[in-house]
Amino acid sequence: RQIKIIGVPLDLGASRRGVDMGPSAVRVAGLEARLEALGHEVNDGGNIAVAIAETKQIGEQSARYLKEITETCAKAAEMVVRSLEEGMTPVVLGGDHSVAAGTVSGVAEFFRREKKKIGLIWIDAHSDINTPETSPSGNVHGMPLAALLGLGPAPLADIFDWSPKIEPENTVLIGVRDIDATEKENIKRAGVTEVYTMRDIDERGMRTVMEEALRVAGRGTAGYHVSLDMDWIDPEDAPGVGTPVRGGATYREAHLAMEIIADHGRMVSFELVEVNPVIDERNRTAELAVELISSAFGKKIL
Ligand code: ARG
Ligand code: MN
Ligand code: MN
Ligand code: MN
Repeated sequence: RQIKIIGVPLDLGASRRGVDMGPSAVRVAGLEARLEALGHEVNDGGNIAVAIAETKQIGEQSARYLKEITETCAKAAEMVVRSLEEGMTPVVLGGDHSVAAGTVSGVAEFFRREKKKIGLIWIDAHSDINTPETSPSGNVHGMPLAALLGLGPAPLADIFDWSPKIEPENTVLIGVRDIDATEKENIKRAGVTEVYTMRDIDERGMRTVMEEALRVAGRGTAGYHVSLDMDWIDPEDAPGVGTPVRGGATYREAHLAMEIIADHGRMVSFELVEVNPVIDERNRTAELAVELISSAFGKKIL
């Protein structure tokens, strides 16, 4: 493939600082060279210019820095559209997970021009489906999935002036284990039924879960976007993340999931978010991120 790397050093959506250094940490861990070693042609587009908290007003407490985050997401969305137009597969590096509202909008916009819809594989400890009305934290990184499904917040949902960007029947959540009570209602309200919790992974195995999830996301779509929040992985293996939650996917499960995605060959874009070098251990979370991206892009043991 031809791959376009897009860095989005955004940390306005989270309360813990530091995920703005994620793109740098993942590059230092050798992303470009590793993808090129697999035979891909890689073009790094650098980072999108992002506001920093110190120079901006918080805005409404119910969705802090929503204005700046929306501006950043709109820019990221444009970059994603352009990459796809040029025949390149976008690999977006966050930043906090609010960037997904931009990335997925870009992918959806590109395929809408061909009258096609896309699926979404949301791999995360969290469901990120709060709205400003339901969020217990006011952190916008807990809201991107709500925006993409059209629940709000409105400025993020309305990037490119249309909404929703994805249909609930083509949205799958994988590995969730920390869902706010208000989010449970939002999942129902949005009509998302394909939610694979850690319990499903434990009981049915990663392979079965992934095969089912990819089938659902791919049904009647041009393919799917993969949004990987590194806090999906157990903090034992991924300590450097914005909001760690114990009981996550193991190193091996995570690799298997990525390998299955590569086998199916229907991924149209990829993003990896929430790497936080401030609390990482010698960059090992970013190194794991590079390994997982490599597996998603076809790295095989043999
Ligand atoms: N549900 C919590 C909230 O709304 C946590 C969200 C964590 N999201 C993330 N992208 N790490 O604040
Ligand atoms: Mn290159
Ligand atoms: Mn997330
Ligand atoms: Mn998360």
